Amino acid sequence: MSYEIVLAPLQGYTDAIFRDVYFRHFSGVDQAMAPFISTMGQQRINLSRLKDVVPENNHNCHVIPQILGNVADDFLFLARNLTDLGYDTVNWNMGCPHSKIAKKKRGSGMLPWPEMVDLLLYNVFKGLTCKLSVKVRLGRHHKDEIFDLLPVFEKYPLDEIIVHPRTGVQMYGGSADIDAFIKIAANTSHRLVYNGDITTVRFFDNIISRISGCKSRFMIGRGILSNPFLPSEIKGETRIDDLERIKLFHDELFETYSRKFYGPLHVTGRMKGFWTYIGSSFPYHGKEVKKILKSKSREHYAAMAESFFSGRPVFAPAE
Ligand SMILES: Cc1cc2nc3c(=O)[nH]c(=O)nc-3n(C[C@H](O)[C@H](O)[C@H](O)COP(=O)(O)O)c2cc1C
Repeated sequence: MSYEIVLAPLQGYTDAIFRDVYFRHFSGVDQAMAPFISTMGQQRINLSRLKDVVPENNHNCHVIPQILGNVADDFLFLARNLTDLGYDTVNWNMGCPHSKIAKKKRGSGMLPWPEMVDLLLYNVFKGLTCKLSVKVRLGRHHKDEIFDLLPVFEKYPLDEIIVHPRTGVQMYGGSADIDAFIKIAANTSHRLVYNGDITTVRFFDNIISRISGCKSRFMIGRGILSNPFLPSEIKGETRIDDLERIKLFHDELFETYSRKFYGPLHVTGRMKGFWTYIGSSFPYHGKEVKKILKSKSREHYAAMAESFFSGRPVFAPAE
């Protein structure tokens, strides 16, 4: 059985630079969903956010752009700009858990309102010239809210539904509810993509053994940031030259952020984000990772990272 693996959108982490560098160093991922771009209203567009998905910044991977919004005309305006860039599919973010966003009935804040979602999809499909997928959670407050949305989704030719089986208010707490995912699979004719907590090959194999109807597409986020080899390991490859490859990946990421970002704080901020996840895969070197996370300047950061790698730390991701 061959599996397709999609890199999850992680705002602040998996931007175009990350994706480009990642895809040049690691294999196993088939597609990447870009972090959301918000609709703006009044036919305006956030050009700095659009930069993340322009084709010249996305040479070496198949990207699906994602839209966050709840006004059909604004959604269509942004979707048209994306199709003009050459995209044939856009994704609708119906999962963002942050209360500031959800309070405005955006992201996971849309999930308790099936009639609103129905009207939006109706109006969007009237004008859409590309394929549309949705990325959802189980609900905003309760994990059965999704079951009032599934009949709405049945009315429309969605490309696929990506399900992260948690509620919005749960944020990232607790664990992904695989039973709920299985129940959804039994209640939809759409293609489903499983997303949530895949951090090891063992966990992946467990999901595969439990999910029968939907075995082909999976989305992985934090697991890839912690262990960039994970998708290739899921596909049966053995990890070799771990540390060298992570160092090359790190160095190129740092060099590219340094070249393309204004301001040293942006660069160190991004690189510290890198360490918050991959740091957990160096379990015997917690103190050194903390030192990197505390570095105050770009130069200090570079020296700390260099000294970390030259100490030949053991890369031991969760198994
Ligand atoms: C820092 C962070 C940023 C995220 N940004 C987005 C986003 O822009 N769009 C989206 O649909 N989901 C976003 N997510 C959710 C992830 O795409 C994914 O659904 C979630 O992390 C569960 O998958 P995982 O356990 O494989 O990481 C974000 C998650 C995190 C932790």
